[in-house]
Amino acid sequence: MTRRIAITGANIGIGLRAATALAGAGHQVLALCRDLDRARAAYAGLPEDQQARIEPVELDLAAPASIRAAAEQIVAAGPLDALINNAAVFDQSVRTARITAAGHELFWATNHLGPVELTARLSPALAAAPQPRVVFVASKGLVTMPRLAIRFEELDQPTWFTPTRAYYHAKLAQVMTAVTLAERVGDVLDVSCLRVPAVRLDPVRLAAQPRLLRALYAPKNHLAARPEQIAGVYAQLVLAAPRHARGADSYVDERLHPVPLPRAARNAAQRDRLWAVTQVAIGDPPWAWTDAGVPAREAPPRLGLHPARWTDERTPPMTPGHHS
Ligand SMILES: NC(=O)c1ccc[n+]([C@@H]2O[C@H](COP(=O)([O-])OP(=O)(O)OC[C@H]3O[C@@H](n4cnc5c(N)ncnc54)[C@H](OP(=O)(O)O)[C@@H]3O)[C@@H](O)[C@H]2O)c1
Repeated sequence: MTRRIAITGANIGIGLRAATALAGAGHQVLALCRDLDRARAAYAGLPEDQQARIEPVELDLAAPASIRAAAEQIVAAGPLDALINNAAVFDQSVRTARITAAGHELFWATNHLGPVELTARLSPALAAAPQPRVVFVASKGLVTMPRLAIRFEELDQPTWFTPTRAYYHAKLAQVMTAVTLAERVGDVLDVSCLRVPAVRLDPVRLAAQPRLLRALYAPKNHLAARPEQIAGVYAQLVLAAPRHARGADSYVDERLHPVPLPRAARNAAQRDRLWAVTQVAIGDPPWAWTDAGVPAREAPPRLGLHPARWTDERTPPMTPGHHS
């Protein structure tokens, strides 16, 4: 079955390999990138039929208006089988916190708020697909920061900012969001959060790093996984049989084995608080699944999985509603 799959940051790195592989397998790919010329250039060498299956869509995750415009365009064109929230900023040359025009710290906006808003705004198109999937992307490096917790009081004025801390802080938030979403609507939306190990950076990315980091990266880059390998894992997550993860099971490694959640992500109250502050920060967008706004302990009792909702018919599994 041909699927319609959106992937952010699809002009380079893992995202480019995933978009190429999925289009090569016959699927229709929406390549969400912030620079359409660079996106087109990235696909220029592909065979014509493969290129024709990749539609570049402009998206800047740090700009809410751009997220809304991209989502409107995608939703208007019909059901969406999968969204892969791949894009992220981890630019080590950003030494002090930058605040976006919308008033959020750049790494927080790009790596957490943007992906959540995009997922919410695409939810009507996902809800209209027979077996919708959403993939969030985290980092194995989180295991080196076991005490990391969400800095609720300083999300956008991070006195604690370093690019590394801000990056992992936002990735922790992605893990927590995936668990919340899987807990609340995992019966109608297949939610995964992939714990990506070290992956080789593309030469252009490496060249953009400060000289010291380039030297430090060199041996790591050599040992790291190839982006094609992780792109293959993305493809499995959106094409293989749905995993029906509920809560913590959504967090998996590159073999798709569930892995332990970071400590902060195990705390239900912290997850609920993160969901609430994120919703406010992204302007309270409606979710297509009413339960997305309802903490699991408040949601009506579940009757287990609903296989009838996982049909091949392109009908919305639930009526659109607002999260709260
Ligand atoms: N590489 C690793 O070792 C590693 C390890 C663990 C996790 N990961 C995760 O894996 C994912 C892919 O990593 P990668 O190595 O492929 O990264 P990459 O080569 O640096 O690609 C990142 C992508 O994100 C896009 N992006 C950045 N800011 C954006 C914004 N504001 N709006 C829209 N797109 C934006 C970039 O677009 P531009 O080209 O326009 O900048 C680029 O397409 C990321 O989520 C990363 O955190 C990577």
